[in-house]
Amino acid sequence: MTRPRLYPLLAVVLILGVHLPGLAQEAPPASTKAEVKAPARSKPRRDPPGTYMGRPIAQVMTYQAADWLFRDTREAEEQPERMLDALKIQPGETVADIGAGAGYTSLRLARRVGPTGTVLATDVQTQMLALLTDNARAAGVKNIKAVRSTQSDTKLPEGKVDLALMVDVYHEASNPEALLQGLKKALKPGGRLVFVEFRAEDPEVPIKPEHKMSLAQVRREVEPQGFRFVENFEFLPWQHIIVFEKPKDRPADEKKED
Ligand SMILES: C[S@@+](CC[C@H](N)C(=O)[O-])C[C@H]1O[C@@H](n2cnc3c(N)ncnc32)[C@H](O)[C@@H]1O
Repeated sequence: MTRPRLYPLLAVVLILGVHLPGLAQEAPPASTKAEVKAPARSKPRRDPPGTYMGRPIAQVMTYQAADWLFRDTREAEEQPERMLDALKIQPGETVADIGAGAGYTSLRLARRVGPTGTVLATDVQTQMLALLTDNARAAGVKNIKAVRSTQSDTKLPEGKVDLALMVDVYHEASNPEALLQGLKKALKPGGRLVFVEFRAEDPEVPIKPEHKMSLAQVRREVEPQGFRFVENFEFLPWQHIIVFEKPKDRPADEKKED
């Protein structure tokens, strides 16, 4: 896999506050049906600027720090292939890599969905998508489509996506509700929405607090937007893998019986 052009590592350290002490021990894959209940939402929200539901919204990671996304230690820290194994992605699927950056995960997804599948790689930064396109070309990968999204519009086709994945992205979204509603539209009924986020519950995870999310916070934000919590995997050294689905449409005759 070709790496993106090098930009100063310093920028990354400044943005994410990363330092790299010993990793947690690898644990066997485990999926938990967590018990956290999401409160029902009724009134329109009035969050203080730069916050959402009581947490700060992180700054978007600049393309100038893209080198960090392909750092040598990332495989050991994030175990991307084990993460994708847990999601059981099938050949031929349409998968959206939201906030794809320079394509670290998109390239892996492209191999998994194969030539009959598609990866829709979105990002709000054109420079990130340019790096991603270069990396895909260098790797000879042809099934990744770069999509320039905005904070209020995913720019994805409606009802076509089997799985939407956000690796280390959601905490940067400045309009989380627009993002979640856009993803709900883009997903097929029964399609999955997956968050890979650094654990806020663990002070040992060496990432700045605003770049981490707790499981409870993710559920609190996502469920009121009409997603159903499916499962949570905690086998990665530093990150949650949190899986939701867009509820399937119920057949008309089933609805009449209510
Ligand atoms: C920390 S990087 C992670 C990149 C990639 N997912 C990876 O793991 O290598 C976060 C990326 O999300 C993008 N981003 C932030 N908010 C976004 C949004 N609402 N929609 C799409 N991309 C977004 C940023 O531009 C940045 O490229």
